[in-house]
Amino acid sequence: MNDTEWFASTLRDWFLQNGRKLPWRDQPSPYEVWVSELMLQQTQVVTVLPYYARWLERFPSVQALASADISEVLQLWAGLGYYRRARFLHEGAKLIVDRYGGTFPDDPEELKKIRGIGSYTAGAIAAFAFHKDTPAIDGNVERVISRFFGIDGDLSRGEPLKLLHQTAHKVAAHGHAADTNQAMMDLGASCCAKIARCAACPLAERCFALKHGLTEALPTPKAAPAKTDEYRACLLLRQDDGRCLIARRRSELLLGGLWEFPMITICKNSTNAASECRLPRHLLWKNALADIPNHWNTSNIQITHVFTHIKMTVILDTAQCATFEPHLNLQNATYDSFNSVSLKDIPSQYAISTLMKKIIKAAQRIDMQKTLPL
Ligand code: ADE
Repeated sequence: MNDTEWFASTLRDWFLQNGRKLPWRDQPSPYEVWVSELMLQQTQVVTVLPYYARWLERFPSVQALASADISEVLQLWAGLGYYRRARFLHEGAKLIVDRYGGTFPDDPEELKKIRGIGSYTAGAIAAFAFHKDTPAIDGNVERVISRFFGIDGDLSRGEPLKLLHQTAHKVAAHGHAADTNQAMMDLGASCCAKIARCAACPLAERCFALKHGLTEALPTPKAAPAKTDEYRACLLLRQDDGRCLIARRRSELLLGGLWEFPMITICKNSTNAASECRLPRHLLWKNALADIPNHWNTSNIQITHVFTHIKMTVILDTAQCATFEPHLNLQNATYDSFNSVSLKDIPSQYAISTLMKKIIKAAQRIDMQKTLPL
């Protein structure tokens, strides 16, 4: 038996005995695979499980999702991060209903015409829901193949990428690709994780990396993307009745459609960030918010949050005014809608990011300590 045949059949035997029982694996519909795969991109299985259950309860079908309002979609997604995925699902659902009469195409090339569905997701839908022998190559699959077959170099381009794809296609062509794909995902999440535990691996007997002492070297590490170091000020602006001003980010921006206390960027990748953060900002705030704040101060509270490409530090400024009701139809380059709300109601009534959750926690500390110098 050649290595590819042995790899595919050993993987499948192992999977049938040891595969994880996950809610999207039990005879899933294409819709269920699509939702689960988008949620699982960049997010761990344990985190996804409760989101997946809530999502399917609220949007049990592609039709239910297509007819929902985007604000509710974003609210259900809130906390999972990478919010573009929720928008892709919503837009894609409308397209599937309008163009395909609510029935998913089973051809990966046709699936790829839907925004947000790339080769990986198209392969996963075709294999898991339509039982086609297509590969679905995610980070775990990449690691298992690269180690077992000894593929080195940058797997995102050139010859290594070509070899990776050829190998994954050959494995899938042996049949039962739904099982072999998910077996690689499970192996990659367990014994073939970044730190390999080869003693428990069903593939150890013929693994190239293990044989040559290369499990740590393979796959070849990718250069880490440089992170932008960004400082923002965020304004906790309260009316005399205690309600706060929140604003919705324009849909085309990072975290688009989500609500937050208004923010302005102080600096990016500055060698002088500490002093730039100390500069007074009242004019900036007055300008950004059409003159609402009439008392303004800065707290010493800083919140940090790391996104894929940005290390963000947010400084909490505070201000108070009698009322901002007349200003609520204001718009600017970052925000397209404003509202007033009491702090405690924000998480249940608005779609917010994890960063905003951290900011609310900090804002509640300010409330409790009554440090607002107004
Ligand atoms: N990660 C991405 N897709 C997955 C799946 N279908 N099962 C488990 N982990 C995954």
